[in-house]
Amino acid sequence: MILVTGSSGQIGTELVPYLRERYGRNEIISSDITDPTGTQTGYIKLDVTDRESLERAIEKYKITDIFHLAGILSAKGEKDPDLAYRVNLNGTYNVLEAAKRHSIDRVIIPSTIGVFGPETPRTGVPSITVLRPRTMYGITKVAAELLAQYYFEKFGLDVRSLRYPGIISYMAEPTAGTTDYAVEIFYYAVRLKRYTCYLRRDRRLPMMYMPDALRALVDLYEAKSEQLKIRNGYNVQAYSFTPEELYGKISERINGFEIDYRPDYRDGIAATWPESIDSSDAAKEWGFKFDYDLDKTVDDMIEHISEKLGISGKHFA
Ligand code: SER
Repeated sequence: MILVTGSSGQIGTELVPYLRERYGRNEIISSDITDPTGTQTGYIKLDVTDRESLERAIEKYKITDIFHLAGILSAKGEKDPDLAYRVNLNGTYNVLEAAKRHSIDRVIIPSTIGVFGPETPRTGVPSITVLRPRTMYGITKVAAELLAQYYFEKFGLDVRSLRYPGIISYMAEPTAGTTDYAVEIFYYAVRLKRYTCYLRRDRRLPMMYMPDALRALVDLYEAKSEQLKIRNGYNVQAYSFTPEELYGKISERINGFEIDYRPDYRDGIAATWPESIDSSDAAKEWGFKFDYDLDKTVDDMIEHISEKLGISGKHFA
């Protein structure tokens, strides 16, 4: 039985149905901090900062594997560093410790480009590099990565991690990250044909589309343990672009779309992150690949968001 923490978040919202489809409806327990609603099945309320209830859930549901997604992203973490510390660091420690005690088979803990900092190379960053982040999010995720490696080497716990870039998706609307503009911009483009971006026009960041992000996580989960040499985090990305370049792609498809730029504190966070990262370790060791280039991503996003907002037609000039 697989436990997913943070199942209502940006990735969890789509990972849970993906896992249920792949491994069977009744094989997944989803969990998050909020009370269950009447319509959710296989969902439990679980606070990862409370180790006792985590251990009780592991026992009760006979959990064998954990996808630990509960976390506070970069922008929200700068607004509330204390919460980010408790959820990201204490929560991860609790998951690792509970996993060790209950002999969990595999623990998957996604990490992030937030682990990098201004001293990291700016482009083509390798998986093993300088990690000196300046956000609470980044600091807690570096510590989580090091803990993952420690639990693997010291206790033989099979912990696996990859560093996600910004994730673009149309299901959950993210509100807590620095890379959220790359999702938000589509809603504004489709609905209002105008968007004010909180990053500078030339702020280049690594990104990928959700279907590729989900497949990568499951490929890493299914890889043979002996293939994996890196335990604190494999870099993965599909492409890098600036807000201006993304705007260009969208306005090729939505006539009259306008953008302006009003950088805020999130641009300060993004300025400390690299422009691109090198996924070759992930490709070599467990076959990481992606299907969606930027054009395919933009087409798919516009199609699904138009449907979601009830606007029909592919090109609504
Ligand atoms: N999407 C994350 C954020 O912006 C980065 O991993 O915080």
